[in-house]
Amino acid sequence: MSGDASRLLDAAYGEGAASVEGAAPGRVTLVGEHVDYVGGRIACLAIDLSLQVAVRPSRDGWWRAASGSRRVSRSQLVLAGDIGDRLFAAALALGRIGQAVVPLEMAVSGELPAGAGLASSAAVILAAQVAVLRLSGRRLTAEELVRAALVAEREIAGIPCGDLDQRAIVYAEPGAALLLDCSRGWRRSVPWPWSGVSLLVASSGESHDVGGRQYRRRREEAERACAALGVAGCQEIGERWRELEPALRPRGRHVATETRRADAAARALECADPEALGRLMDESHESLRRDCEVSTPLLDAMVTAVRLVPGCHGARLVGAGFGGSIVALIDDGAASSCAAALEKVSGVTGATWLVHPSAGLETTADDVVGPPQPGW
Ligand code: GLA
Repeated sequence: MSGDASRLLDAAYGEGAASVEGAAPGRVTLVGEHVDYVGGRIACLAIDLSLQVAVRPSRDGWWRAASGSRRVSRSQLVLAGDIGDRLFAAALALGRIGQAVVPLEMAVSGELPAGAGLASSAAVILAAQVAVLRLSGRRLTAEELVRAALVAEREIAGIPCGDLDQRAIVYAEPGAALLLDCSRGWRRSVPWPWSGVSLLVASSGESHDVGGRQYRRRREEAERACAALGVAGCQEIGERWRELEPALRPRGRHVATETRRADAAARALECADPEALGRLMDESHESLRRDCEVSTPLLDAMVTAVRLVPGCHGARLVGAGFGGSIVALIDDGAASSCAAALEKVSGVTGATWLVHPSAGLETTADDVVGPPQPGW
């Protein structure tokens, strides 16, 4: 297989052993943000913006990584706060779950923007793991791949994330959203019911950081809210967030209401009701702004501006927040006026994308992901 990532690898390090590629899509959350780490429900989808990673064995035992014009190399597999970290963490994690991994040269390319709240971090790790599995001719079950990606992100890169991104990228089915239940690992596909209604993603230009202190604090506060109520996860809170001490009450209310909105979002899709889904997206944003406190004035202004455009059904910030992007549910015919309204507010041009539900790795990488094949 030879694509942009393979060409970048050759350009960066000269022609060498044949490279192998893996690709992974980004994800958009429809409703259900900041609940995965406390066992909530999420309506989400994989999108048609992706990343590709090319890998090939290193000639001299050094680990190398290339992304755009940046190059890094190491004699040992350690993290150094640069573009090699996620790529090397992906390989290291496969080693930790018992796969033999040799030193590699790796390159990443693709149109999924980094730091935009579209799960580029999980996508780069999963694309790299798919490539490494292809290179070594090995196969993992979908659940093993999710776990390997989480080992890379949490244990090796030290990011305290939940499992939303990895599950969406692995399990999404083509043309459908996914309702994930993070307390039981349960999931259900919900077909995207419209041909003329899509999602418009727009970057604010403010880069966000899931590894940052604020994300970690939101997670700890949501966990403390659950512990104070003696519940295993946010689905059990119901109206009991009212019993929490004042400082934790908004966090408790966010996770309790957001998980219920995700169920309602799945029903809105089943009823093909864009107004209902748009309303739930609006409510989700308001909860993320007021109770979870992960929005920014710019994200709020973008959401407010796009909602005023005829043909926009609803809008919210997407991903961890603190910057990143917003997503709007729109009639396709309103795409250019929505994009123009968003660009006017953000001052960022060329960073809006009309995205569609796409297949996850269980479908697109079934040569290396899925149940063991006969003869394995
Ligand atoms: C990031 C994390 C996810 C999730 C979202 C917020 O994308 O990686 O686990 O917590 O933020 O919903």
